[in-house]
Parts: sequence; C-alpha cells; structure tokens
Amino acid sequence: MQKLFPNERLGRKISKWYLLHGRHDLPWRKSISPYRVWISEIMLQQTQVVTAIPFFKRFMRQYPTLKSILGASEDEVLALWSGLGYYRRARYIFQTKEIIKNLYKGKFPKDFDSILSLPGIGRSTAGAIASIAHNQPFPILDTNVKRVLQRLHALPDNINDKLMWELATHIQDRKDLFPYTQGIMDLGATVCLTKEPLCKRCPLKKDCKSAFQLNTQISPRKIIQKKKMALKFYLFFDNEQFLAQKNNELSIWSGLWLLPPEIPINFVNKYTVSKDFTVTHQLSHRTLEITFVVCKMKRLLRPKTNHEYKTVKINSYFDLGMPKPITQLIKNL
Ligand code: ADE
Repeated sequence: MQKLFPNERLGRKISKWYLLHGRHDLPWRKSISPYRVWISEIMLQQTQVVTAIPFFKRFMRQYPTLKSILGASEDEVLALWSGLGYYRRARYIFQTKEIIKNLYKGKFPKDFDSILSLPGIGRSTAGAIASIAHNQPFPILDTNVKRVLQRLHALPDNINDKLMWELATHIQDRKDLFPYTQGIMDLGATVCLTKEPLCKRCPLKKDCKSAFQLNTQISPRKIIQKKKMALKFYLFFDNEQFLAQKNNELSIWSGLWLLPPEIPINFVNKYTVSKDFTVTHQLSHRTLEITFVVCKMKRLLRPKTNHEYKTVKINSYFDLGMPKPITQLIKNL
C-alpha cells in the first residue's frame, strides 16, 4: 500500500469538498489537456479567474490545440493577450511553443523537470500542470494555497518557503490529484478568504488552528508607493486607418504595438489636432500618466522613420497586441 503523507487525510477532505462545492464550470476544467492547462495556468498567474475566462475562451477559439499554435507568430500570440496585461506571459507562451516544436516534437513534455524548465513556468505552475494534466503528485503553492496552509497550521507571515513546500506536499491527496489540486485553489479563493474567511463552510474547520478566529495572523498587504511615469503618444488617423509603432524602446510593454511618441518629420502641418487629454493607467509597479494627442489627417501618410510601423484598419485594431489604454482610445474614435 502507498504510504500516506502526514496530512493526506486533510487533502482527501479537500478533494471530496471539491467534488461537491468546487467551481466545475471553469472552462479550463473541461476537456483537460496539457495544452489547455498550460495556457490557463499562465493566464491565472497574475489575472483573476473572472477576468481570465473570456480571454481563455478567445484563445481556445483561435488556437484550440497545441498543434494549432505551433505556427503562430509572436505578434499573433500578443494580439490575443491584448488587454490582459503582463505581456511577458504571452512572449513566454510563444517561446515555449517554439521549444515544444523544436525540442519535444510538438508534444507537451510530461517530465516535471522539463515542464519546469519552460519559460514562465515556476515550481507552482509546473506542479499545477503535472498534477492536473498528467496526474503526477507535484504540489502547488500560489498565494491562495499559502494562505490556506498558513492558517491551517497557524504559521507566522514570514515563514520560509521550504517549510511551505513541505506542507504543500504532505497535504496532497495523491489518490485523487485532480480534485485535490483544483480543490485547494477553490478553497483559498472561495472560502478561506483573506479578509473574512467563511470558516463555517470549510472542510478543514475541525483541523484548522485558526478556524473561527477572525483576527487571523495574516497582516494586511503593505501599501506600495508606485513610481509615476509620464508618456505621450500621437494617434494619427484618417477615415479608415491609424498609425501603429512597434515598441522597441520603452521598458514596459516591450514588443507590443503602441502609437508613435513623436511627430514624424514628414507629418508636420499635415494634420489637425482634434483633442488631447491625459489618462492614468495602473501597472503593478508603476502609475502611468499617458497623454494622447489625437491627430486627424485627410489621408494617413507613411512616416519617414526608421521605427517599425504599420498602418492599421481602425476596426481591426484587435488584430494587434496593444495595451488597453491604446485599444480603448481607438475603440472610441
Ligand atoms: N488559479 C491558478 N490556477 C487555477 C485554476 N486551475 N483554477 C482556478 N484558479 C486558479
């Protein structure tokens, strides 16, 4: 008989709870394949479940299988990420599928260390893929799972990662990995809430050292003072098209399509400014203050510039990978 881990009994309570109360309708929990699990886990690294759902569905409509994404360009992957933020993730997806194409003959690797070596995949994401898609007993440890374990064992905030990984390993229900892994994520997201945990509904309430103690030891998040960054973009457009410029200079939004930050020399006196205004946009580590100057032209010219640019049909802006403040501006033209 397989030896039980010290807390596997608790893991079993979690997988049973999942079968009754889990979020079974989430689109990545249906038609499980390593490819679908991979894309969803990358999306969910920095995006809330409700926000990720439409992006995941759109991604799967465009590229339903691993095979179908193998020929995609980086720009095409970035376009599907448009509006989701943290665009590095889209570039990691592009790099990973190139590795899968060239190194793994177009098949998603099964071996844990190979999964872990792929771009954008850390230990927890690799654990999610290995356990959900390949039924291998590797644990996950995202912020939700950390909170559950920390409260279960009444551990202080500054507990070291090594111990947390051991606890995450020892609680896994190795007989039923799929419902366990999804279950511990759902428990963290829907019951063991940061501010007001719903202990009454928790399958671990009899085991948890913090149950029904509203004053849990988890301290509120520190407020981070973000740096401000001022940007200016020109939207040159005519009745049909606008001018986009590839970002090879700004440290943020690298590789995305933006608008020119200055007036191309051959555009001088060839446009009228219809409005200019400033919007604020939050990134995780920066507050952007973006000034847009909207410039109407009779006919959009080709700029004399050595920057990479494109003229784009106004109603197909969503074919490009562009950040949200810019797509919103164009949508409202
Ligand atoms: N967060 C990370 N992975 C998740 C998953 N598979 N389901 C729900 N939330 C998640």
